[in-house]
This record gives sequence, C-alpha cells and structure tokens, in this order.
Amino acid sequence: MLKLDRLTKSFKNRNAVNAISLDIPEGQMVGIIGRSGAGKSTLLRMLNRLAEPTGGSIIIDGRDITALKGRDLLAWRATCAMVFQQFNLVGRLDVITNVMTGRLYHHNFLASMLQLFTDEDRARAIRALDRLGMAHTALQQADTLSGGQMQRVAIARALVQEPRFLLADEPIASLDPLNAKIVMDALRTINQDDGITVICNLHTLDTARAYCDRIIGLADGNLVFDGAPEALTEAKAREIYGAESAEAFSEGLTSTTLDFPIPAAAMAAAQPEYAMGLAR
Ligand SMILES: Nc1ncnc2c1ncn2[C@@H]1O[C@H](COP(=O)(O)OP(=O)(O)O)[C@@H](O)[C@H]1O
Ligand SMILES: [Mg+2]
Repeated sequence: MLKLDRLTKSFKNRNAVNAISLDIPEGQMVGIIGRSGAGKSTLLRMLNRLAEPTGGSIIIDGRDITALKGRDLLAWRATCAMVFQQFNLVGRLDVITNVMTGRLYHHNFLASMLQLFTDEDRARAIRALDRLGMAHTALQQADTLSGGQMQRVAIARALVQEPRFLLADEPIASLDPLNAKIVMDALRTINQDDGITVICNLHTLDTARAYCDRIIGLADGNLVFDGAPEALTEAKAREIYGAESAEAFSEGLTSTTLDFPIPAAAMAAAQPEYAMGLAR
C-alpha cells in the first residue's frame, strides 16, 4: 500500500499540489486526470522524488519516502520507474543500450559510471523489448524510431528496472490514436500480468475510463474526485476540466477511441513483427 498523507508542493505563493491524501493498494491501475496546470506532473514527480514535497508525507511499507537520502533514495527510485510524454531516450544510442540503462539502478557505482552491462542485462533487455514487440529494433539507433516505437522502448527500459510502481506522465499525449492504443494496452498488460501498480497521468477522459480501475481527478492542486470510472459523472468531469472540457471530451482529439477493429495493414505498419505473425 502506497499512502499519501496531506502531500503538498508549493511554488512561491501557490500550492501546485494541495494536501492530497490517498491510499493506493498495490496492483491497481490508477489514472490521474485534470486540465493543464492541475498538478498531475508535480504529484507524480513527488512520488519518485524528482520533485521535493514541501509538506505531508509519502508512506510505503511503513517508511516515509519523503525522508530518504542517498542510497535509500536511489533504491526507492529503482522501485518506481517513470515513463514520460517525450520518451526521454538517448537518441544517439542504440535501442538495447537505452533499455539496459534501466538496469543501472541494480549495479554498483563504478559499473554504472562505465555503463558496464552483463550478458544477463542484455538478455533481460531483449526479453523486455520482445514483450513490447520491439526486439527487432534492438540494434537500431533510438532516434530512428517513430514516437510510438520510442514509447514502447521507454516502457521496456522501465520494465528491466523491475519496478513495483510504474509512473507514466501523459505517455500517449504525443502519439497518434493507433500508437496510443498500443502503448495503453502495453501498460494495462504489465499491470495485470506482472502485478505492477501503474499510476498514469492522462489528459483525456475516455482513455482513463477505458483502461483504469480508478480515476483521480485534480483541479488546481486539489483532489476533487477519487473513484471508479463508472462513478465519474459528466457534471463532475466538467468541473474537473472546466474550460478544457471540449478538448478533453472531444472524440476527435482523444487518443484511444479506437472502437473499430484495427485494420491489419495499419497494425503491420506499427508493428512489423505482427505482420510476420500473420505470415506464419
Ligand atoms: N518548477 C516550477 N516552478 C514554478 N511553478 C511550477 C513548477 N512546476 C509546476 N509549476 C506550477 O504548478 C502547477 C501544476 O503544474 P503541473 O504539475 O505541471 O500540472 P499538470 O501536469 O497537471 O499540467 C502549475 O500552475 C505550474 O505552473
Ligand atoms: Mg503535466
């Protein structure tokens, strides 16, 4: 159980995250929604201490994460892998090396500095890439990939970290609908098959509804909704999104409204190995 107790982050005179208290049982897939500036990224970044809380606490296994330093802080960061909207791969490195950097959390300082990877690291990286349908790109330079492929590589990198929590900050905001679906499906599979708790910031409502067990709504740093997708009424959603409602609800702009079967040709273009599977 991950427990947030009046977690707060203030910048100058305003609270980006305002005294949020939450219990997140392990194994949940949680979607955090809200308009731009609501505090979604700040909340997520505090969880792995990329941002320092200015008040409250984060408790896991009875330990206060907000007090961790040095080696203990690194160990915590290893257990909560992060996936970003802009993927954050090293473009000039090949795909497998990008994925193996997720193993550095498990290596000693010197090996990390020299980026010394073992055969075991390589094998893990290939297995993770294979799960995401990306093994065939292992030796390609990362900046030759499409956005959707980059995000799948970033998820593979998160997986080799062997995290308990996977934190994703608007992972599909830069993707087209087909790749958005592939990425969200991958996150849901990881949640269900590996039991990894996924906490995902999402701008659009339909994606959160389609994939998450639980939706948390933020507005101006405050928790304004916490419940099952079915419990989120239209009125409450309008309150959360305010002036951005049209954009957040619009079918045309949302990313995972693919309720039609994906044409095989489109699937094959996004995932060459899918085409190979068809050929077999
Ligand atoms: N480093 C920072 N310095 C000052 N204000 C910040 C900083 N980061 C975020 N904020 C402010 O905190 C609020 C929440 O931002 P953010 O967490 O990025 O929202 P979201 O991810 O929901 O769009 C916004 O008003 C934003 O301007
Ligand atoms: Mg954000």
